[in-house]
Amino acid sequence: MDIKTALATARAFLQEKEIETPRLDAEVLLAHVLRCSRAGLYANSHRQLNENELNRYKKLVEKRACGQPVAYLVGHKEFMGLDFTVSPAVLIPRPDTELLVETAVSLLKKSGAAEPLAVDVGTGSGAIAVSLAHFIPELHVLAVDVSEDALAAARQNARLHGVENRIKFLHGNLLEPVMEQYPGLKADIICANLPYVPSGDIPQLAREVKNEPITALDGGPDGLDFYRQLVPQAEKTIKPGGSLLIEIGPGQGKPALELFNNWSEAELYHDLGGRERLVAAQL
Ligand SMILES: C[S@@+](CC[C@H](N)C(=O)[O-])C[C@H]1O[C@@H](n2cnc3c(N)ncnc32)[C@H](O)[C@@H]1O
Repeated sequence: MDIKTALATARAFLQEKEIETPRLDAEVLLAHVLRCSRAGLYANSHRQLNENELNRYKKLVEKRACGQPVAYLVGHKEFMGLDFTVSPAVLIPRPDTELLVETAVSLLKKSGAAEPLAVDVGTGSGAIAVSLAHFIPELHVLAVDVSEDALAAARQNARLHGVENRIKFLHGNLLEPVMEQYPGLKADIICANLPYVPSGDIPQLAREVKNEPITALDGGPDGLDFYRQLVPQAEKTIKPGGSLLIEIGPGQGKPALELFNNWSEAELYHDLGGRERLVAAQL
């Protein structure tokens, strides 16, 4: 079978299985098997696949048809223009979270601190911590997660992007390991993309999302349980004038802003789709 026929067959199969982007997924998976770009598939559309390539492709397409996310199947995902290794132990970094990173980079640059310190709470793949360290060469980061597997993935991504010397990885609940291991430490900025899906919405999530770790998704009855615990901890671990950035979901803007009543400022940001996505607060 040649590339063109393999793609057409896979696309039709994925479409029949109600996969949202059958053509794109068929291409990404075949490009992964053949270790080429998507454009490369079209440049060589008459090339024959050997038996091994065809078998590997069929297995990936079948897994995709069962709802496994493409990023887990190919083992990586682009975020902030950087390539991140991902596995089912971590949430797949989302384009929505780039708003948080861009806002954090801009606040850190404005602060003018010589060697600023950031904390990334719930680091997962390390998407936020690694991107911040990549874009701000003088930045030091503490990255926390309750999942040892996530921390291992984040460490791997830090090595991949050459920032492992500026990120320390801590295991534990929210800011507790920071307060225990660095008593009195004050950060310039704390970033958190903690689980914020309301528990009652979990059963309705897309089947792809249900393949991701539940500990990365479920934020309690209204989705804000983790942030309710985090905000008072952050008040003890942020420099005066420092910032806390929390990613939220649509409809959570008002209750999330109310968590910052004691703070000097809190602003709600929307993502490119116009949905409430981020609260940035200054102490
Ligand atoms: C929504 S994912 C975000 C991952 C990554 N920061 C990103 O933006 O792609 C939430 C992460 O928070 C971690 N987490 C959940 N509860 C936590 C807690 N109590 N303390 C620290 N991390 C927690 C999960 O293990 C998961 O890696």
